[in-house]
Amino acid sequence: MAGADVEAVDLTLLQQILARHKGSRGALIPILQQAQEAYGFLPKQVLVAIASGLGMPLSQIYGVVTFYAQFYLHRRGKHIIRTCDGTACHVRGSAKIIESVEKEIGIRAGQTSSDYEFTYEVVYCLGSCGLSPVAVIDDKVVGRLTPERLVSMVHGLRRPSGAAAAS
Ligand code: FES
Repeated sequence: MAGADVEAVDLTLLQQILARHKGSRGALIPILQQAQEAYGFLPKQVLVAIASGLGMPLSQIYGVVTFYAQFYLHRRGKHIIRTCDGTACHVRGSAKIIESVEKEIGIRAGQTSSDYEFTYEVVYCLGSCGLSPVAVIDDKVVGRLTPERLVSMVHGLRRPSGAAAAS
């Protein structure tokens, strides 16, 4: 599970983002999106600086960040693995896939590995039910999965070259 989000954060990038929006409160969402793109997630120091730059209460910023699923308050893994456990995928064996991924990476769904290599999430329908069971690995949709195939892909991601990833 991610726990080292307390490293010092260089706020130079954020100052550039805030400058582009000239402290406009109406630009909060785009500022948060751009800050997340720059830092990979939204560290507390970044949120504090945004609140200060926009003259808004920090609680209000947190309210927005926690409302939208697109924002992350914790550092995420280099590789994002999402497996589907929606109805179509479930009847075609997603439970075994979830079990095998959790065992292979050593974390539960919703967690990030301590080396920040992987974040694993379970979602409920990826819109590709015809290919069930389905996963998305680093934005690539992979269908007709078996536990063995997914584990082999995770192995591929671990290799320095990442050569066998999501084929
Ligand atoms: S239920 Fe898994 S893709 Fe729709």
